Amino acid sequence: NDFYQVNEQGHLTIGGVDALDLAARFQTPLVVYDVANIRQQFQSFKQAFSQQKVDYAISYASKAFASIAIYQVIDQLNGHLDVVSGGELYTALRAGFPMSKVSFHGNNKSKSELLLAVQNQVGVIILDNFYEIKLLAQVLEDTHTQINVMLRVTPGVSAHTHKYIQTGQEDSKFGFDVRCGQAEEALQQVLANKNMKLIGVHAHIGSQIMETAGFKLEVQKLMQMLKQWDQKYQYQASVLNLGGGFGIRYTDHDQALQPETFVEQIVQEVQNCVQQYNLKLPAIWIEPGRSIVGTAGYSLYTAGSYKKVPDLLPYIAVDGGMGDNIRPALYQAEYQALLARDPQAQPTETVHLAGRYCESGDILIEKASLPESYPGDIVAILSTGAYGYSMASNYNRVPRPAVVFAENGHAQEVIKRETYDDLISHDCFYQENEE
Ligand code: LLP
Repeated sequence: NDFYQVNEQGHLTIGGVDALDLAARFQTPLVVYDVANIRQQFQSFKQAFSQQKVDYAISYASKAFASIAIYQVIDQLNGHLDVVSGGELYTALRAGFPMSKVSFHGNNKSKSELLLAVQNQVGVIILDNFYEIKLLAQVLEDTHTQINVMLRVTPGVSAHTHKYIQTGQEDSKFGFDVRCGQAEEALQQVLANKNMKLIGVHAHIGSQIMETAGFKLEVQKLMQMLKQWDQKYQYQASVLNLGGGFGIRYTDHDQALQPETFVEQIVQEVQNCVQQYNLKLPAIWIEPGRSIVGTAGYSLYTAGSYKKVPDLLPYIAVDGGMGDNIRPALYQAEYQALLARDPQAQPTETVHLAGRYCESGDILIEKASLPESYPGDIVAILSTGAYGYSMASNYNRVPRPAVVFAENGHAQEVIKRETYDDLISHDCFYQENEE
C-alpha cells in the first residue's frame, strides 16, 4: 500500500510516528504532516524540470497550507513562494523566507498590502487588473521604488477536474482578458511605467486537474499572445508562469498523474511553441499547492457517538468536522477514512462519518466503509493536507486544531491548538451609551 504506512503493531504511522501516540500526545482533532512526503513531492517536480533543458521555478501556492514551518521547509527545498494576502506575506517575512523568491497574487490587493510588498521588495507582483496597476504605480511613485511585475491573463482555457472547456472561461474575476484586448492594454500601461519591470505573464486554469490537455492548450494560447506581443511591441517574456492545479489522489476513484508527467508535457509544449513562433525560450514557473502538501496531511479524530437510524445507515460522529475541513460540505469532496489502530482491517460496515458542528451538512464522509469501531477510537482521514487547515474556521466557537510535523520518527507541534481564551481574545465587552 502506497497511501499510508503501518508499524509492527499494525498501527498507522505518520512520518515514522505511531498515530495513536500522536493522538495521545497532542490530542484530537489533530492535523499531522508527513514532512518527508512534502519534500518528496517537491523534489519530483524539481527533478522533472532539471531533466529538461529549461530555467524553471517551483512556487509553492501557500494558500493550500500557510504557516511559518511550511515556509521554512519550502525554503530548504530552494522553492519559491506564492502569497495572496498581507497575512501570508507577513508570515513569510516572519519565517525569514527570502523575499526575492516571493510572488504576490490576488485580485484585489489593497494599497497597504502593495506597500508591504514593495517595501520588502518581493520578487514579483502579479498584476491582476487595471485598478491595481494604478494603485501600484502610485505606491512606487510615493516610495521612489521599482519592482518586478507579471500580468495575470485569462487565456480562455479553464480546466475543471476531468474536462477542459474553451467557452465561457473569460467569465472570471481574475486577470486580464486576452480575447477582448485587456491584456494588450495592460501590457502598454506597464511598458510605459518606468517603475515596473515586466518579467513575464501568468495564467492559472483551475485546480485538481487530472489530465495534461488543459495545460497544453494554456501554453498554446499564451505563446500565441506572446508572439503577437513580440511582433507588435518587441516584447519578449522572460518568464512563463502557468499556475498550479495538479491533481492528487484522495480516494481510489482518483487517477492522479505524476508530477513528472505534467512537467514533461508542459515543457515539451512550450518548446514546440517557441520553435514554431521563433521566440526565445522563457523560464517556466509553476505554482503547485495541493500537490505539494495534500497527500502529506492526515486528520486524526476521536470517534464519539454512534447513532443508529432505522433502515438507514448509522452515523459515527467525530470531534472535528467542517470547522477543520470544510471541503466535503463546500465541494462534496471525497475522502478515505481508516482506523489508526488497524488501518488494514477489513471494512465491516458502511456509516456516515459525521462532524461535531451544528449543521446537517457537516458530514466528513458519506457512506464510509469502516471496520467495527468504538467510541474513543482514533479515526484518520487521508490526504487532508491541502485546503483543510488553511480554510479552517471557528464556527460554533470550536478552537482550531493543532498542526504537527512528523519526520524520521519525531513529531513537533508547528501550530498550537487554539484555547478558549484565544477564542475570546478579540472580544470586547459592549459599553452601552446612556443617552
Ligand atoms: N496559483 C493560482 C493563481 C491559484 O489561484 C491557485 C489556486 C494555485 C496556484 C494552486 O492551485 P493548486 O495547485 O493547489 O490546485 N479551496 C479549493 C482550491 C482553491 C484553489 C484556488 N487557487 C479546494 O479546496 O479544492
